Amino acid sequence: MERLLIVDDEKHTRDGLAQAFEDKFDVFTASSPEEAFRLLDTERFAVVITDLRMGQASGMSVIDKTLQLPNHPICILMTAYGTIEVAVEAMKHGAYDFISKPIQLDQLESMVDRAMIERYHPEKPAVSSDGTSNMLGSSPAFNRLMQQIQLVAPTKTTVLITGETGTGKELVAHQLHQLSVRAAEKFVPIHCAALPVNLLESGLFGYERGAFTGALQRRIGLFETAQNGTLFLDEIGEIDLPTQIKLLRFLETKTIERVGGTQPIHLDVRLVCATNRNLKTEVEQGRFRQDLYYRLNVVEIHVPSLRERREDIIPLVQHYLKVFARENHLKAPVLSPEVAGVLEGYLWPGNVRELRNFAENAVIMHAGNTLGLSDINAKFLAPEVSIGCSQDEASMLRQMLQKTNGNKSEIARLLNIPRRTLYRKLQKYKLL
Ligand SMILES: Nc1ncnc2c1ncn2[C@@H]1O[C@H](COP(=O)(O)OP(=O)(O)OP(=O)(O)O)[C@@H](O)[C@H]1O
Ligand SMILES: [Mg+2]
Repeated sequence: MERLLIVDDEKHTRDGLAQAFEDKFDVFTASSPEEAFRLLDTERFAVVITDLRMGQASGMSVIDKTLQLPNHPICILMTAYGTIEVAVEAMKHGAYDFISKPIQLDQLESMVDRAMIERYHPEKPAVSSDGTSNMLGSSPAFNRLMQQIQLVAPTKTTVLITGETGTGKELVAHQLHQLSVRAAEKFVPIHCAALPVNLLESGLFGYERGAFTGALQRRIGLFETAQNGTLFLDEIGEIDLPTQIKLLRFLETKTIERVGGTQPIHLDVRLVCATNRNLKTEVEQGRFRQDLYYRLNVVEIHVPSLRERREDIIPLVQHYLKVFARENHLKAPVLSPEVAGVLEGYLWPGNVRELRNFAENAVIMHAGNTLGLSDINAKFLAPEVSIGCSQDEASMLRQMLQKTNGNKSEIARLLNIPRRTLYRKLQKYKLL
């Protein structure tokens, strides 16, 4: 469950709001900005709702702090009479919206729903100024991937992109769009796991006014937003069975219905999906519809892990060292041959994402210097994780468990994935 933070000095407001959101969120409350700061330092929130005036303190400081966080939470301000200007100012700085006190709960709830639907922040894809995605690589495995993309992109076929975390599935999806006749139309990505289940359906298909409590007006869903373009459903393995049925219906009839609607709406949308779960296993275990699986898996593009294309490691490191040096106005560090050797042999469980983080860190910490073995994280030197080329996710996780003595936070950090994703994976392979 995503976390939501309520900051207000009045207890009854905190309690009322906490109750309103407890079904959909893991709710935290704070009675002062200081308390909020402490929570913001330790927990990751999807939404922060703060009062503006709390005694002498101002909710603006909470908003400021929140907006500085990487991939910052949705900020909503609660304002009393006379503080609207401040709220408008906050929105210019990136707050999502404000709501006047006394709070109308249904209004606030639908504001949060809307924000959650719009929230999906895709990682900035490596897109160059001419609009083409910048996928780097020259290994045989990478070239095969690019060939597949070029073959499939111009067609109307639904594509399923598979591969470990951080391998570049989102970039591939982008590339499929870019190389298709739809390139001038919208590419609409949605992160299925980021939305609470009940919001996914209405987010995708939209809803009619009055379809459920809080549906104050008709809303267009992302399917309609993507008309004539490409809809990218990331982490498709996460969608619930009712939404799976609606998706199947779209694939069979090219029509959707808004939630609470009766009119079928005909759409021309290309569907590209990605998953790092094994959907076949999900089907076997009854969590994913088999008929939908076959419809989605007309063409599968598997993105190889970095371990399966070791030739690409050093060029990618060099590329990202340059990128981050430029971004930070620093001089890129130089790789010593020993470090290059170690990086090539490393397992890269977090794939290109982990590699990017390595490069960014190296630029910041060692700008202009030569990177020696003593400058790099010990994880790169641990022999257990730098073996063979073709091992699967399960055995990699088994090794990580051994190496960290079962420390899951540490593994999540090393793999660069959220803890709940890690738990899901461990459960999947019965390693928990
Ligand atoms: N071939 C590549 N060249 C340059 N950058 C790449 C390449 N592949 C991936 N990246 C970068 O690596 C990061 C991770 O890629 P992306 O988000 O597409 O991975 P993903 O497979 O969708 O991961 P997840 O399953 O965790 O969502 C991004 O910053 C992306 O730009
Ligand atoms: Mg992704």
